[in-house]
Amino acid sequence: MARVLSGIQPTGDLHLGNYVGAIRRWAEQQAPNHFFCIVDLHAMTVPYEADELRQGTRELATWLLAAGLDPRTATVFVQSHVREHTELAWILQCVASYGELHRMTQFKEKGEGKQGVSAGLLTYPVLQAADILLYQADEVPIGADQRQHLELSRTIAERFNHRFGETFTVPTPTFPTAGARVMDLQHADRKMSKSLPESGTLLLSDTEKATEKKIKRAVTDSGTEIRAGDDKPGITNLLDLLSAVTGEDIPTLEQRYAGAGYGTFKGEVAEAVNAFLRPVRDRRAELADEPGTVEQALHEGADRARAVAAETMAAVRDAVGLLR
Ligand code: TYM
Repeated sequence: MARVLSGIQPTGDLHLGNYVGAIRRWAEQQAPNHFFCIVDLHAMTVPYEADELRQGTRELATWLLAAGLDPRTATVFVQSHVREHTELAWILQCVASYGELHRMTQFKEKGEGKQGVSAGLLTYPVLQAADILLYQADEVPIGADQRQHLELSRTIAERFNHRFGETFTVPTPTFPTAGARVMDLQHADRKMSKSLPESGTLLLSDTEKATEKKIKRAVTDSGTEIRAGDDKPGITNLLDLLSAVTGEDIPTLEQRYAGAGYGTFKGEVAEAVNAFLRPVRDRRAELADEPGTVEQALHEGADRARAVAAETMAAVRDAVGLLR
């Protein structure tokens, strides 16, 4: 059975892009050799508040359980609880090149033109490679924005294996059929993200009313037709979302809404998104009364993750010539 690992930054809440791009599949396909990591160390690469990081990590863990990750099946853990992540990241930093890190799109986007950019932002993708390679992951379920980071992880694994002997599994990314790249509802040319203003980002913590309002106010395109196409980024995004939450393909949806106005269409998208998120939101509310559940899951998760990570690290230390 394929070994799976994926990760998410602890920004506290989930948005619909995270959910349909990655987390829903984590939950649907979970198995005992699947590892899901809350990457708190990655969140330190840009300015942040210590209390918010702590709080965000707990919050996110709660949402992951609400989304259906079952700690009795899969391993859910916090990156910083397993020290091997930083240890391996250092070794892989000596395998990755400065040039390839400097060319990464995310580094350019988050770093360009900013004062005091951290060295951690540059080496961010190497820590991500360490997350994946430590668990010898065969598959990494992610959204489309992580494609370049995964390419680098593969390059690093191959280069390491070539230089030091077969040590790492070379991971393969997997993407959802719909919702791989959910766009912001106010700016259809930017991916939905927690760092953009709230009105274009659908949060799982939003009320159903707020969700409906955001979808009804989503930017649309000129014309009245409900169809997907490069000239209609707003409607295309809503069709993709509807496809992701209903499981119906886009041609079927285009046919159903042929002749319907934007208003009717958006109303139905809102209803479908709310229906889709209802069980997760309800479970999140229940978990608020059982804080011990989350703590226990993270504790056991770290133990299980550590056992695997330690085994890989022992092999890596030998391979690269560190004295036992
Ligand atoms: P992060 O925290 O930004 O996002 C978590 C997951 O959600 C997906 N995603 C989206 N999918 C579709 N549409 C969107 N608008 C959207 N926004 C986010 C992401 O693709 C991701 O799958 N660098 C990673 C975290 C990470 C990681 C790892 C991932 C660290 N180590 C190891 C995989 C394996 C990140 O910042 O994801």
